[in-house]
Amino acid sequence: MDGLDQQQAELLARIAEADANALEAIRVGALGKSGTVTLLLKTLGGMSPDERQAQAPAIQGLRTAVADAIAARKAALDATALEARLVDERLDMTLPVGIGAEGSVHPVSQVMDELAEIFADLGFAVATGPEIEDDWHNFTALNIPETHPARAMHDTFYFGEGDRDGEGRRMLLRTHTSPVQIRTMTQTPPPIRIIAPGRVYRSDSDATHTPMFHQIEGLVIDRDIHLGHLRWTLETFLKAFFERDDIVLRLRPSYFPFTEPSVEVDVGYTVEKGRRVIGGDPTGPNGGWMEVLGSGMVHPKVIAAVGLDPAEWQGFAFGTGVDRLAMLKYGMDDLRAFFDGDLRWLRHYGFRALDVPTLSGGVGA
Ligand code: DAH
Repeated sequence: MDGLDQQQAELLARIAEADANALEAIRVGALGKSGTVTLLLKTLGGMSPDERQAQAPAIQGLRTAVADAIAARKAALDATALEARLVDERLDMTLPVGIGAEGSVHPVSQVMDELAEIFADLGFAVATGPEIEDDWHNFTALNIPETHPARAMHDTFYFGEGDRDGEGRRMLLRTHTSPVQIRTMTQTPPPIRIIAPGRVYRSDSDATHTPMFHQIEGLVIDRDIHLGHLRWTLETFLKAFFERDDIVLRLRPSYFPFTEPSVEVDVGYTVEKGRRVIGGDPTGPNGGWMEVLGSGMVHPKVIAAVGLDPAEWQGFAFGTGVDRLAMLKYGMDDLRAFFDGDLRWLRHYGFRALDVPTLSGGVGA
């Protein structure tokens, strides 16, 4: 065995035994700037062409063999380390959640669960739609044509001009949950009773507006539906939600393109301990009115847009902000804190995971 073979055998033996630190030391010692193998390679420069031709293959071969062995050893060490970490950090996802576990239910989720529970009791199903919508569902079918000023009012996040769906419709982030009305009516035959909670997006931001927020939509389509049904439903819902019987509603004429007539719904509040609470006598000395919902009878044009006969089918719809409902019920005052992900806020305002809202146990948690 000549000197090179012996050097190679020794290096490979050390490499095979090395841990990560030792391996790096061997690499520097052999292949680093002044490593043994590097120095050998440098001697080639001082040789005569004949000598070089004779020596070069063996020296290059040594370098390659050592570099390959180091790479293979490193890969093996990395794999072992990963394996050890995976074993060490293993989580059994099938274990039950500990009662004392960190984490709580966000007020928005809690309120959505409460709303689903209340409306389920009234025979409403929960419907969903995509957050990435097209402008037909978000606007046109809701009687908001291209030139309608309401389009500008919605501060819409549009996708690029070229990002269109198969039917050439412009894509956008839905600005309200109302397109779920359209999706539901085009997919299921009436009678329809649904609520649709979900995220909506508008290019707007201050203490009471965030670019993403939550709405809930309600839709009833049936025969002979009138404003009285709307009023009773909203009153029943608000009483259940705020868990008070002394809740008074005021319907004010308003305008939404997709309803006719349109009404804005105010509820009475009273000031208790310096804080506005829903309920009590709005006409008393501590009372007033607060707007909580937009609603109305579904516009015949909307019913026709989904291919139903407005002479046969009528309905009512309503929409409101889930975050705002949560703020009113649980007394938070800055909407932005909802989406900061601050654990202290969540510990304070969050709900225990096991406090599932039920009508019998109370939706107030
Ligand atoms: N989509 C409306 C908005 O975002 C809210 C709304 C108003 C929804 C009236 C309705 C309705 O269903 O009937 O401002």
